[in-house]
Amino acid sequence: MTEPNLGSTAGENVPQHIAIIMDGNGRWARERGLPRTEGHRRGADSVRRVVDACGRLGVKYLTLYAFSSENWKRPPEEVKALMKLLIQFLKTKTKEMVERNVRLQAIGRLHALPPECQEQLHRSVEQTAGNTGITLILALSYGGREEIVDGVKSLIESVEKGHLDRAMIDNDVFSKHLYTRYYPDPDLLIRTSGELRLSNFLLWQLSYTEFYITDVLWPDFGEKELEAAVAEYGRRQRRFGGV
Ligand code: IPE
Ligand code: IPE
Ligand code: MG
Repeated sequence: MTEPNLGSTAGENVPQHIAIIMDGNGRWARERGLPRTEGHRRGADSVRRVVDACGRLGVKYLTLYAFSSENWKRPPEEVKALMKLLIQFLKTKTKEMVERNVRLQAIGRLHALPPECQEQLHRSVEQTAGNTGITLILALSYGGREEIVDGVKSLIESVEKGHLDRAMIDNDVFSKHLYTRYYPDPDLLIRTSGELRLSNFLLWQLSYTEFYITDVLWPDFGEKELEAAVAEYGRRQRRFGGV
């Protein structure tokens, strides 16, 4: 296996957590006169390449925006194809994830997914639960605003039940009521296909994340593109409001 060439950043300045808005499957397909679903199918291949590359670089958490709250608005056939692809991905890749020490997790309003999806997701999460390598977090039926609303409801419930004193609520306490309570905030956000927006992704968690936007379409994104993003991250100076 060849060592990734990251110049001076190798090993020292690798983000602990990368989040990716995997965009551009439709455009990739349109450019080739193929159906959008073919773009999604090829996009699933990129997932495998990127998980492997992240593992090699020493990234600890990788969150992938796979299906947003808003994506339910797409034509039913496309939604159906995406759900089918998700089930297929989980069915065929879980064994590989176990072998490669990948721990799978999911965030979002998962109960909104079709039952078969939920069941397969549950099985894959269980089967990889003991793995100690990279944590792959799939954002499914995920919306940042929905997550914050769910977090507020959860906080209110804790207060009403007497588990939490209202005066104790601060940023850290609130973070513990989000879907992402077990993970650190992303250090690097990548968005493929050039769109300059968040599309309701991780609104709370990205407050100090470094952004990297590339015109490369998601099905064309691979190890080389990931390394370029990580190298660019290594050149950034994070100040967190300080000097
Ligand atoms: C991203 O690709 C995949 C999902 C949102 C599920 P798109 O399907 O959004 O591709 P474009 O933006 O139409 O090219
Ligand atoms: C964001 O992409 C959602 C995912 C990548 C899953 P979209 O293609 O849905 O975003 P918009 O509609 O262009 O903002
Ligand atoms: Mg899109």
